[in-house]
Amino acid sequence: MENKKGIANIINTFSTKEESVLNTVKVSRLVKSEDLNHHGTLFAGRVAEWFVEACFICGAKHTEKPENIVCINIHGLTFTEPANKGDIINLETKIAKVGRTSFVVYGKITKNNSDKILSDGFITFVFVDENGKAIPHNIKLAEPIDDEDIKIRTRTENLR
Ligand SMILES: CC(C)(COP(=O)(O)OP(=O)(O)OC[C@H]1O[C@@H](n2cnc3c(N)ncnc32)[C@H](O)[C@@H]1OP(=O)(O)O)[C@@H](O)C(=O)NCCC(=O)NCCS
Repeated sequence: MENKKGIANIINTFSTKEESVLNTVKVSRLVKSEDLNHHGTLFAGRVAEWFVEACFICGAKHTEKPENIVCINIHGLTFTEPANKGDIINLETKIAKVGRTSFVVYGKITKNNSDKILSDGFITFVFVDENGKAIPHNIKLAEPIDDEDIKIRTRTENLR
């Protein structure tokens, strides 16, 4: 009950769909022993799982219909710096592109209090009906608000 109220409050902070599109959805995770690879650093598979989940949550918040979203394409993740046990991994996501039935979420990964990007990438989701058929979603993409948005949206042009 408490949890449902919390999610509703987050969704209600967006007054319009247009405004919500520019809002970053943030999720954090703690790196624990079970998240490590044989080098003793954060396992790429775990990061990928957290990345997909964070991007999914972004889509779920914007559509308010998590049951209608499926992932069709993970467009690649590049890891430029390791993370270690005890690090806090920050995943920031936002809608980067919308189609008729599909939408692309951009995700950026940093650690602790640093702005340095460990990894970033894109995931395409499709909005589907109860039979799994693609149907139009309700997400509208507003104008970009800064250079970062413009760069992210330029990068989406080459995705497939
Ligand atoms: C999602 C799914 C219903 C789409 O079916 P489909 O027959 O490809 O549907 P469409 O051809 O109508 O394409 C739907 C949208 O996806 C987009 N799309 C199709 N293939 C794509 C790809 N490889 N990458 C990115 N977008 C893609 C299309 O451009 C279209 O977008 P638009 O409506 O915004 O223009 C189907 O592929 C599916 O069920 N996939 C499995 C999903 C799943 O189980 N995911 C969990 C991960 S295992």
